Amino acid sequence: MISIALYNLKGGVGKTTSAVNLAYLAAEAKKNTVLWDWDPQGAASWYCGVDESKAKAIKVISQGVPIGALQKTTPYPRLTVIPADLSLRKTDIELAGVDGPRKLVQKLVKPLSEDTSILIFDCPPMLSPSIEYVLSGVDLVLVPMIPSPLSLRAMRQVEEFFKNKKRSPRKIVGFFNMVDLRRTIHTQTLKNAKYLPLDIMDCYVPMDSAAEKMSHYRKPLTSYSKTGRAAQAYRAMWREIRSILKSCK
Ligand SMILES: Nc1ncnc2c1ncn2[C@@H]1O[C@H](COP(=O)(O)OP(=O)(O)O)[C@@H](O)[C@H]1O
Ligand SMILES: [Mg+2]
Repeated sequence: MISIALYNLKGGVGKTTSAVNLAYLAAEAKKNTVLWDWDPQGAASWYCGVDESKAKAIKVISQGVPIGALQKTTPYPRLTVIPADLSLRKTDIELAGVDGPRKLVQKLVKPLSEDTSILIFDCPPMLSPSIEYVLSGVDLVLVPMIPSPLSLRAMRQVEEFFKNKKRSPRKIVGFFNMVDLRRTIHTQTLKNAKYLPLDIMDCYVPMDSAAEKMSHYRKPLTSYSKTGRAAQAYRAMWREIRSILKSCK
């Protein structure tokens, strides 16, 4: 099982949009895929047509409810979702009372590895202990950024944070989202990023109103748009991710 987390300290940069579309593309590529929503807002699950579970998500930590009890099918073959709900806002309080909280988080993930090829986490915009435990165990952290010098700094902060830790993700790679090449700050940032010691993907996702319409259709963009600019960018991104994953094997 390969695990990928969409993460940025900033909100509104495209973590959820990207998590949903990459999960859809992984499933479309015949991989058994789980999209695990860690954001109490529960947007990733909602986009996949999955409503809040009756079983509150926090119960996997507070009451030892098995993760499989939360897992929901979606309208898409091979794609299941572990939905989030507001109860997850208590994750860190619950974990604080546990012996070996990191191990507990890893233990939650383990049963999924039996029949899952790709596990994608949609993370909230924070670096709380629980999110640190999730990120430190994944193969790849993807950091979406709206192009600006400040967003590159935020990515560096994530890298620096894990540099000094005993456990860290195997790879941290950034990519640009909502790119508008008519804006100087965007073209400059894309150009400058090439000279920085940061791992940034070649492909980027352009600003595309079709991406915003996901909340209207309540579906992954890539499920209903084959030729749109953002949809095509996500397809190129999925191919690039596959080669990144091969190189870090
Ligand atoms: N490539 C894009 N073009 C236009 N709008 C986008 C694009 N990617 C995301 N958005 C919009 O930006 C907003 C924030 O995206 P979201 O994925 O929810 O960010 P995050 O999960 O980081 O908070 C949403 O309204 C979404 O529809
Ligand atoms: Mg989000």
